[in-house]
Parts: sequence; structure tokens; C-alpha cells
Amino acid sequence: MSIETEFELDAMIRVGSAVGAARDAMLAAVRAGVSTAELDRIGESVLSARGCRSAPRLAYGFPGNTCISVNDALAHGIPREDRVLCSGDVVNVDVSAELDGFWADTGASVAVGTVGMRTQRLLDETRAALADAIAVARPGVKLSEIGRVVERRARRSGFRVVRDLCGHGVGRHIHEDPMVPNHYDPKDATRLHAGLVITIEPFFTLGSSRVFEDTDGWTLRTSDGSVGAQFEHTIVITDEDALILT
Ligand code: CO
Ligand code: CO
Repeated sequence: MSIETEFELDAMIRVGSAVGAARDAMLAAVRAGVSTAELDRIGESVLSARGCRSAPRLAYGFPGNTCISVNDALAHGIPREDRVLCSGDVVNVDVSAELDGFWADTGASVAVGTVGMRTQRLLDETRAALADAIAVARPGVKLSEIGRVVERRARRSGFRVVRDLCGHGVGRHIHEDPMVPNHYDPKDATRLHAGLVITIEPFFTLGSSRVFEDTDGWTLRTSDGSVGAQFEHTIVITDEDALILT
């Protein structure tokens, strides 16, 4: 969407802050021995306390309130009682919700207990790629600049960008135009403008840049089984730069 009124901005701030709070409550509960279903219940309790409805459930009939993806699962992982986290796992929580007709989306990955240095670096560099991209987002800048800086970060740090997964417009629905690729597309002449609401969500892996859908019909896994990470914010382009809503 493109925000045009103070009312719309306030509504996006409310739903953005709710999904951000749910994400943080879930991340704070991550430890060895916790099931992904338990994390999902924590996220749902924060969302419902703020009057939000789960976006994946509402928009797509997803069998969970939030998406929780472990290790080689990068996105759309189904919360399960029997998926108990262990030290060494990398877990991604992705929280999106609707409140009064406005939608927001956020995500983050975190290590459970201790992981190897390269895996920790993967987490740090993916988070830094999101920060790089937010830092260049302002009116008049090409949308492709986001993919350019994300790809540059991956190349310099020796990780792979997942080309099959992108950021997107958001606000009046969970997935809107434009697509926000994590790789540079020199042919894309789209420019960012004040009011535009998008997500930026780089996915980096230790190996493959491709994903496939698991037989459960939801989970997206890396094609070579390598571990991945994702960080996502919903932002609005302001007159000078970008405001993080989540
Ligand atoms: Co998301
Ligand atoms: Co998203």
C-alpha cells in the first residue's frame, strides 16, 4: 500500500508494533527443550491480546499462527509439538498479522544454545544485510538498490542469497506488489516513493540459493539441506528515509 493519511500511518504503526512484540516474545522463549508449537502459542497470545489475527492462517489457511522454520527449513515451517529445539539448531520465526484491515510482517532467525562460528556469522551477516537495505531505502532510489546491497553483503561474506524468496508490498493485504528481490535486477526501473509500505527480507544460506517445497505442502527447504537465516521488517518510505514499523 501507499500511506496517504495520518490514520493509515497510525494503523500501520499499531499492527507493526504488535507483530514486532510477538516476534520478540517468541525469540525470548527460544531455548533447547522448547517445541515450535509452544513458541507459536506465545506468539498467538501476544497477537490476540492486541486484537490481531494471524495473517498466514487468515490469508492462506496455514496450519499455525506463525511460521517457525528450523535449520534447512527457511520459510513457512509449521509449528509442531514434536519439533523440540536442540542446542545447535537455527530457528526462524516469521510473524505476520492483520489488525482492522491493516497487515504487517516481520521475521528473525536465532541460534539455539551454541552454534559454530560460521553459522553465527551467517546470522550476523543476514541481519546486517537487512540493515544495509533499510539504510538505502528512501524516495527516488531504485527498488533494485535493495537487491544490490543485499547481494553485495552476501558476496563479501561468502554466503548465498536465496533467489526464490523476496520481500513484498504489504499493508492492505499480506502480499502486495511490488516484489522486493534480494538480488540485483538491472532491468527493474521501479523507484521507491514516500508512503510506500514494503517488507525487506534477505535470506542467506551456507550453501544453496534454491528452495523446494516439503511434502507437507508448506515448508520451504534449501535444495541441498544447508542451514539458512532470514531477517524481515515492514518499513514505510518517508520523505527522507525509511521508518521501521516492526
Ligand atoms: Co514474513
Ligand atoms: Co514477508
